[in-house]
Amino acid sequence: MNFGKPDDVDWRTSTMNLDTALCRLFHIRYPIFLAGMAGGPGTVKLAAAVSNAGGLGILGSAYMTPEVLRAAIRELRKLTNAPFGVNLFSIQTVDDNSRTEEVQRELNEIRKILDIPLVQGDQVQSPEYFEQQFAVLIEEQVPVISTAFGVLPTHMMKQAKSHGIRIVTMATTVQEALLAEQAGSDAIVAQGSEAGGHRGTFDISSRPMGANIGTMALVPQMVDQVGIPVIAAGGIMDGRGLVAALALGAEGVQMGTRFLTSIESGAHEAYQKILLSSNEESTTITNAFSGRPARGVKNAFIENWDKRGIEPLKFPTQNTATRDIRNAASRQNNPDFMSLWAGQGLRMLTAGQSAASIVEETVRQAQTILLNTVH
Ligand SMILES: Cc1cc2nc3c(=O)[nH]c(=O)nc-3n(C[C@H](O)[C@H](O)[C@H](O)COP(=O)(O)O)c2cc1C
Repeated sequence: MNFGKPDDVDWRTSTMNLDTALCRLFHIRYPIFLAGMAGGPGTVKLAAAVSNAGGLGILGSAYMTPEVLRAAIRELRKLTNAPFGVNLFSIQTVDDNSRTEEVQRELNEIRKILDIPLVQGDQVQSPEYFEQQFAVLIEEQVPVISTAFGVLPTHMMKQAKSHGIRIVTMATTVQEALLAEQAGSDAIVAQGSEAGGHRGTFDISSRPMGANIGTMALVPQMVDQVGIPVIAAGGIMDGRGLVAALALGAEGVQMGTRFLTSIESGAHEAYQKILLSSNEESTTITNAFSGRPARGVKNAFIENWDKRGIEPLKFPTQNTATRDIRNAASRQNNPDFMSLWAGQGLRMLTAGQSAASIVEETVRQAQTILLNTVH
């Protein structure tokens, strides 16, 4: 759907119903994806609620052990009969222990503030679940797999497709979108720089902070270059954002931040409180928590790290090295040292709203705008 199509009755009806190619491809009622949000915020209940409301709920499972992932999928299936997706990080990782001692020395300064055990310069060993997680997704026959950081490797893509699983790849440049299309993806998430959480940029070796093209510029350029549906992500918080994305040629949207303060969100209470008092200036892109660039609300952890001017270890080693700090901050209800991932649309957050009501409100608002625009 876009606003350039001929003005016939069918098009008008499908526009009002927000019935885009994405809806038909994924068998969903509304072109709204819940972003997979790994590490706590994206719960099974949240994914089920979005799917039940007519969108596509996606479970962020990058940090789950294969056993936890299998249990989560089975739980999700108990809560919804509608299609859903599971999100993974598609990345081959090798731990970077090149400067572990130096990094741990710096992190120890933060551990002292939190009064938790200091860590000596031992080698960091990150868990490597990707292959096993993927095997679980095949065994459990999930309807949709979405990935960040890269396209599924060829053998996995083949296997998933032979099981009829739809594949969604998140891309931050047109070049990445073309790679994803050539590899067999069914749809692309165009992740603009406004987006909360990790930048999906495939290769960060020559740009440590990722590719940061705004949603407004990225979406139409991707739409012009690929032949599969593009889903806009980054800063989309309501029906206005949905209509804007459709006008740019996207077939739908993926929203993460908007659901962080929903009733079903798993985001820590202190984190939610910070989000609700933040604004469009509050976030920054940092690689201090994980070794990969990600957008979150600026806090003491980021400021401390930046002041010291030390390069983090590469992903996922930095992520593993900072885990005890983030966990302690959660236990202590201290948002100063949590990763407060969030996008730039923070003033548009609402408190205490159910995920279903967010989907419904977004749809209603979009339909009202379209009714007044499409003649
Ligand atoms: C708290 C949080 C966690 C996220 N975790 C993931 C993730 O695990 N996998 C992924 O593909 N994207 C992740 N993202 C990024 C989303 O896919 C999406 O690009 C982003 O939420 C869109 O921008 P918005 O937050 O402004 O809606 C995360 C985003 C947030 C806010």
